[in-house]
Amino acid sequence: MSLTLALPADDGGQPLHRRLYLALREAVLDGRLGEGAALPSSRSLAAQLGVARNTVLAAYDQLAAEGFTEARQGSATRVAARQPLLGRADSGPSIPPPPPETKVAAWSATPPMLMVRDPTRPFAPGVPDLAAFPHAEWRRVLGRLWRRPPVELMCGIDPLGHPPLRRAIAEHVGRTRAVRCDADRIMVVGGSQQALDLVARVLVEPGEPVLVEDPCYGGLSGVLRAAGAKALAVPVDESGFDPDLAERLCPQARLACVTPSHQFPTGATMPLARRLALIDWAARKGGWIIEDDYDSDFHHGGQQAASLQGLDRWGRTLYLGTFSKSMFPGLRLGWLVVPHALLPAFVAARRVADMAPAGLTQAAMAAFMIEGHFGAHLRRMRGLYGRRRTQLLDAAARILGPSLPVAAGEAGLHAILRLPEGCDENAAARAAQAHGLAPAPLGFHRVTKGPPGLILGYGNLAGWSIEDALERLLTAIKPLISDD
Ligand SMILES: Cc1ncc(COP(=O)(O)O)c(C=O)c1O
Repeated sequence: MSLTLALPADDGGQPLHRRLYLALREAVLDGRLGEGAALPSSRSLAAQLGVARNTVLAAYDQLAAEGFTEARQGSATRVAARQPLLGRADSGPSIPPPPPETKVAAWSATPPMLMVRDPTRPFAPGVPDLAAFPHAEWRRVLGRLWRRPPVELMCGIDPLGHPPLRRAIAEHVGRTRAVRCDADRIMVVGGSQQALDLVARVLVEPGEPVLVEDPCYGGLSGVLRAAGAKALAVPVDESGFDPDLAERLCPQARLACVTPSHQFPTGATMPLARRLALIDWAARKGGWIIEDDYDSDFHHGGQQAASLQGLDRWGRTLYLGTFSKSMFPGLRLGWLVVPHALLPAFVAARRVADMAPAGLTQAAMAAFMIEGHFGAHLRRMRGLYGRRRTQLLDAAARILGPSLPVAAGEAGLHAILRLPEGCDENAAARAAQAHGLAPAPLGFHRVTKGPPGLILGYGNLAGWSIEDALERLLTAIKPLISDD
């Protein structure tokens, strides 16, 4: 039998007999070695390949053990008969595209989370200053835990999360955001994105209208689409979400998703009167408010408004937050404060979704907080981002001028550049990307069409000066802006 075998490359992880077994198996699977075909004798294949005979015998034993071949006394080892499911890879039925109206078709058509997302480039939204992260402290905490993890972390799967972390989060949000909660109501989640997904699983009926801010975080629109809900856009103004307008637009809605402390992405802060009106709406409707407090760890202006959840005497608010900006997005840790009445449902949904968050990462985060590293890091970063925000606004006024105004809310890590009417914001984002920058088009976060703009993250400038990054941005987008 003449068989040309290509052994899989030696990646250092697989012994030779295993690689030979894989190559032979592939030849059977793709039909080069058909039903009943005789394999070369172990001696001749060993000589052909320049390997030890034992290597070939070990590969043949594995093929026989799995039923690919049959060895008969006194005759050659042959590819086993009666394997109708084996055959040439190119002769089988191809997989047709998913039929429309199926879930897989809908998921396939879902746009990616962000068109532009390269954290190593200036203006990437949602990325904190990675170089300023206290790596030494984090490494010490991780090393201690990973060297000898406590047994309860190796086996513990509390769907609410690691109790010390829940206590540390409860203390943090109680003190800094006046959130009413104890650790029993904190669910540690894989970032606020998972919190939004759990909310949709538990609270949203298919076809149900859900009030969302317009513009709003694109990840929220995705979650609602996946849940079969109807996102009902409520245009925000300079005071953010307007509960009266929302009620007029959709009297039957009973779920509202809002970012009251720093509207995403416009930066507006919802005043007290609107917060109280929204709580009153939820109490009257028997509805729920989802408060996404995604970046309130960084407040740069005067007095920071406390959370809406802390004002809610009726317990109708689910409060969610994240370590993505205060630590780093890849950590995938956040929290959801669940009203008592909803806890059993959320715990059950959490078990079904992913059982529990990774214990060791949670324990590291807890230790980081308890030992004071988190607090110290936040204080340092607040100063850094505050100064950077001022520099950005000053430099933008100088470099971009009044026709390209840049504004930033009092909190967070991003600003908005308003582009002239008619300018293609997607083309502007692409042009910026071609110049080494990573701003995101505002439209990605819109439910309905609106004036064009770019979101400029200023958390991670990746070693660039603000002036250089702005000059580069101007060079990139200038050809897209007409002079009149
Ligand atoms: C408003 C808003 N909500 C939620 C998220 C999701 O954050 P996480 O990384 O915690 O999933 C983001 C991310 O940027 C965001 O901007």
